[in-house]
Amino acid sequence: MKTFGLYPTVMVVALFFSEVTAIPIIRPRASGWDLATELIKLFAEILPIAMKAFPKDADAWNFQRNPNMCEIEMETTDGANCYVSVRCNDGLRKYNEGKATWNACYKGGRQYFNDPRIGDFSVNFTDTDGIDGQGLTSPVLQVKDIGDWKAIPVTDLAFLKQQDEDCEARNGANCGTGPYICTWLHFYHEDGRTRRWKCGVPKRGLNFPGLDSNAPTNERGYRPGWCGVHVTQYQKPDPSKDQYRLSAKLIDQNQNEIGNTADVIEPKVELSSRLPLPFFVKSRAVDSDPLDFEYDGVKWDSNNKNNHFCSVGAYDSGKREIDCGFTCN
Ligand SMILES: *[C@@H]1O[C@H](CO)[C@@H](O)[C@H](O)[C@H]1NC(C)=O
Repeated sequence: MKTFGLYPTVMVVALFFSEVTAIPIIRPRASGWDLATELIKLFAEILPIAMKAFPKDADAWNFQRNPNMCEIEMETTDGANCYVSVRCNDGLRKYNEGKATWNACYKGGRQYFNDPRIGDFSVNFTDTDGIDGQGLTSPVLQVKDIGDWKAIPVTDLAFLKQQDEDCEARNGANCGTGPYICTWLHFYHEDGRTRRWKCGVPKRGLNFPGLDSNAPTNERGYRPGWCGVHVTQYQKPDPSKDQYRLSAKLIDQNQNEIGNTADVIEPKVELSSRLPLPFFVKSRAVDSDPLDFEYDGVKWDSNNKNNHFCSVGAYDSGKREIDCGFTCN
């Protein structure tokens, strides 16, 4: 049973034979992409605010380049032998390694797992001999923290990526560029007897509502590692003479507030917090200028997307919101 009908048979045929014939592939993007967008929004709710879901790589499972994501690999062989692993930047954990303890390894069976990095999750292979090839196929992945067990139709999402690659290979116009949540691990899914998929899901939010997953704090009362700064910048009432008004707060790796300053009208604001050193925020001359930041001798501005993953909102009702991350050891 398909979660939603993204690929009528004619399209599947077109996909497999597109190398030899010139059948144009119809690309019914809408429903699948809506789902991908919806999932990415859910990811953003789980992730620490200063680190966006896909800061570097459009493939959600690329945990090396997206260190706040984990890769889930799902596998079946000969219509059985279900296996799953979760790999994050702190290592690989295998579930059902000996392929003997997956009780629900049959079509429509749902097996539950718990991984300390992503929390509770389940896998349900919902079909046999699906678009993925022969065998036990069409996994539906569910993670408790992602939309309260929202169904992630792995095959449908892998198909979206396949379509884009196919479009690219044919020099198509406006090929999609992701982000991608799931992929097939072989292009020719018919090859061999093993079916394999992988998806990327966020690491469980460090302060996700309802979960007390705070890591221990240090003697200064904060969790070192990656911290965030959130600033609200208010436009000047009279640009010819006024300064910017700023209010800022600092957030530790646990996503807890560790210092703030109420509205301050000064070009250079010093924030004291539980961090051992002062944190500086500076405003410049005009609305389109970035803000400047400085902590522990490191300086950056709010246009920095690569190392500090800054995001800058548009001005709305006379103010804008800015987030960046920084190392806080
Ligand atoms: C597995 O997914 C199928 C298809 O969505 C569904 O009918 C079935 O109830 C699920 N199995 C369990 C145990 O929830």
